[in-house]
Amino acid sequence: MSIEHNLDPNRIPKHIAVIMDGNGRWAKKQGKFRVFGHQHGVKAVNEITEGAAELGVEYLTLYAFSTENWNRPKIEINALMSLLVKTIKKETPTLMKNQIKLTTIGQIDSLPGECKAELQQAIDATKDNTRMTLILALSYSAKWDIVNSVKKIAVQYKNGEIDLSDINENLISGSLSTNRIPDPDLMIRTSGEHRISNYLLWEMAYSEFYFTDVLWPDFRKEHLHEAISNYQNRERRFGKTGEQIAEKKN
Ligand code: IPE
Ligand code: IPE
Ligand code: MG
Repeated sequence: MSIEHNLDPNRIPKHIAVIMDGNGRWAKKQGKFRVFGHQHGVKAVNEITEGAAELGVEYLTLYAFSTENWNRPKIEINALMSLLVKTIKKETPTLMKNQIKLTTIGQIDSLPGECKAELQQAIDATKDNTRMTLILALSYSAKWDIVNSVKKIAVQYKNGEIDLSDINENLISGSLSTNRIPDPDLMIRTSGEHRISNYLLWEMAYSEFYFTDVLWPDFRKEHLHEAISNYQNRERRFGKTGEQIAEKKN
């Protein structure tokens, strides 16, 4: 029986966050340019989006471009941006068919005009879809988001709209670009790197981390099922003891 059939439907992570890594190395292994790897990464994006929706995942966040990625060679940045435009245009009908709502986190203003326009169209077209929310992290970094959040809160405090005692975890969570999105239950990073590269620092305080050596362009539904199966075999204790968790279950 496949792993998919052994998954517990009652313990599917509500929110999965992914660091799609390894496109460049995938291309290099075949003697091709890095962009070739990004192009093939799109197939993995489609597979994993569909696979997550099939399992009943409610939120899927994909790290597509970090604030730090602006430091890459211009030619690669341009290729990534055109790939983004092309992919969104091509995939919007599939998002509609699969009832998936598209949204973004990150500094969208910093993207090229054509990207922004294409994204906005897809966001508008899919806004009433309810099966799953697909969040693209674009020009995103967690520290950028936290700095923004602190600024918003400072303005509210300065204007007398809030007191010092109003500043709590909920207020901070609500001021981040991930407000209204529950914290990720599971974070998956491909390509064998064991770091979080400025991704969802606040939100992943209690996420389970899953690292795999598979390079992103090779990532398929069965790898997603493997990650979820691994997640389902863990005990999330949130500071409590294993005994307390077992007691609650019985
Ligand atoms: C991930 O693959 C895609 C982006 C960061 C846009 P990389 O491009 O980082 O691939 P590697 O890590 O160099 O192999
Ligand atoms: C993280 O991957 C960002 C994305 C997947 C978009 P990187 O490949 O840029 O991460 P580092 O810099 O190697 O940590
Ligand atoms: Mg990388």
